Amino acid sequence: MSETRKLYIKTYGCQMNVYDSERMAEALGAKGYVQTDRPDDADMILLNTCHIREKAVEKVYSELGRFRPLRHTKPDLKIGVAGCVAQAEGEEIMRRQPMVDLVVGPQTYHRLPAMVEAVQAGGTARDTAFPEEDKFQHLPKVRKHPRGPAAFLTVQEGCNKFCAFCVVPYTRGAEVSRPVRQLLHEARELVARGVREITLLGQNVNAYHGEGPEGQEWGLARLIRTLAGIDGLDRIRFTTSHPDDMDEDLIAAHGDCDKLMPYLHLPVQAGSNRILKAMNRKYTAEAYIRLIERIRAARPDLLLSGDFIVGFPGETEADFQATLDLVKTVGYGQAYSFKYSARPGTPAAERTPVPPEQADDRLRRLQALLGAQQRTTQEAMVGRVVRVLFEKPGRLEGQQVGKSEYLHAVHAAAPKAIRGQIAPVRLTGSSANSLAGELIQTAP
Ligand code: SAH
Ligand code: SF4
Ligand code: F3S
Repeated sequence: MSETRKLYIKTYGCQMNVYDSERMAEALGAKGYVQTDRPDDADMILLNTCHIREKAVEKVYSELGRFRPLRHTKPDLKIGVAGCVAQAEGEEIMRRQPMVDLVVGPQTYHRLPAMVEAVQAGGTARDTAFPEEDKFQHLPKVRKHPRGPAAFLTVQEGCNKFCAFCVVPYTRGAEVSRPVRQLLHEARELVARGVREITLLGQNVNAYHGEGPEGQEWGLARLIRTLAGIDGLDRIRFTTSHPDDMDEDLIAAHGDCDKLMPYLHLPVQAGSNRILKAMNRKYTAEAYIRLIERIRAARPDLLLSGDFIVGFPGETEADFQATLDLVKTVGYGQAYSFKYSARPGTPAAERTPVPPEQADDRLRRLQALLGAQQRTTQEAMVGRVVRVLFEKPGRLEGQQVGKSEYLHAVHAAAPKAIRGQIAPVRLTGSSANSLAGELIQTAP
């Protein structure tokens, strides 16, 4: 038996980092580490970092600086940096910041237990390789108790698309899909522990092409339909998708697979074909709009979400107008929009930037439009009945909060015992980022 030590993990970035943090905690659990919410209580601090936009590295240094005093009061405290900044800048971080004992990339964290052993013995450890072996084969097969009834499951990792602005192909490596058998096992593990909703994750999740049970290749739709056969699993979602990988079967699944929720995050990035080409996105605005029409034909009540970048090098006012036009044509229920950020090592970083004031102004205008669409979508829900998977305490005393089919956060007065259950709620009001409603009492 190893002695109990405490682990504090801080997670930045996308859902895949959230998933990775859970898996790292499980891997270190086997070394006797239990998780704590308090850094000052920890024997080991792990920052799981994100490199997608500017100041990523600076953020890590400033966070490390905040932990410096802890190191004085607890000389045995170990500090590690994981995730995408670790992958991109790990060597430099270790050089510049001697308080970092350990650096681990997103594809090598199954080796954490051995690395931590080296660190506990007084050394340092750094592993940012892209190994041949499947890390998932080396992680604990039994998932620990999930935090709630909605869980993430990484099915695909990495990206081969090389959009001109993006670091992901460099930090996560080439596209890899996990085998179906492994995923069914993990999904059943989660469901056995009370999970009712699973979000399938991948940087390019709809490019999933994993090995099926008989050795043949499966696409994402087939995986979803098979997962839908698991009793006790009520909801399936997936994120993030690339428009070019929405195949016929996946579009059809939105219409005929009841457990697949009517919410789709399908980033377009820009509405100008010239800019899309410069971004290496490979589709046109017209093709994207046609695609959305086809998906909506399969699932008319689909809530669409997207990502946008403004101020990409070379973007003119007319290009930006094309983005606004596309947003008006498509109509988004929810969206993320970002100012372009030059990332070291990416092709677009070499190009002449748009003046920052212009980019700021465009971001404001785009966000005003997207914000209005989001409000209209939410307000149109008021009066409707949705089914909410309750997850945790709500904002007010006596309230619980959960997610509707459309991924809206919904607050309702309800007993604590409702957590983990799906219940009908009549929506009564809409506020900035959530909806409020009343439980519909059903006969017992
Ligand atoms: N694979 C997904 C996106 C993953 S990154 C896709 O292809 O759609 C998440 C979002 O971050 C992207 O959709 C993009 O809008 C944004 N993003 C990525 N790199 C960026 C950069 N250099 N500057 C600003 N935003 C960026
Ligand atoms: Fe990045 Fe997505 Fe493009 Fe891949 S498809 S390079 S993850 S933006
Ligand atoms: Fe960030 Fe890496 Fe995810 S760069 S968005 S944590 S894949």
